[in-house]
Amino acid sequence: MKRVLFVCLGNICRSPQAEGVFAQLVREAQLDDAIVCDSAGTSDYHIGELADPRTRAASLRHDLALTHRARQVTVDDLDHFDWVIAMDQHNLAHLQHMAGRSQARLRKLRLLREFDPDPGDLAVPDPYGGGADGFERVYQICLRSCRALLAEVA
Ligand code: 4NP
Repeated sequence: MKRVLFVCLGNICRSPQAEGVFAQLVREAQLDDAIVCDSAGTSDYHIGELADPRTRAASLRHDLALTHRARQVTVDDLDHFDWVIAMDQHNLAHLQHMAGRSQARLRKLRLLREFDPDPGDLAVPDPYGGGADGFERVYQICLRSCRALLAEVA
């Protein structure tokens, strides 16, 4: 079993979107028995909450319902998961600090947009303070990047 964790700041916008999109691609590829995924936030701001209503609305427009409840990433996650995919450089720096000197943990850390075939910027832009178009943009970035990520993980 391969385990993939997506990480952002609040775990209510970008990482639950990436998790939902990736899980749908895994189902479509009939790889449910081989790959599992989850998401978490570096902060404790929104623990227990569903994804932001704007994230869920953007996702539903693409026939994807998000049911994840926000949780905070732990050091144990860096041992349990095989791939830990950060949404931006701040999230990545936080995870690198948590990993300490463990090469086994550090090796697992990547940025989602390293896999984006149309990257532009290496960060998935945080849509929290902006308008609805930001959430659609995050969905599209997640879709493109997760397709390429799945090809590497599978
Ligand atoms: P996310 O977006 O990291 O993609 O879940 C955010 C959600 C909440 C906050 C910031 C970013 N916040 O400051 O509460």
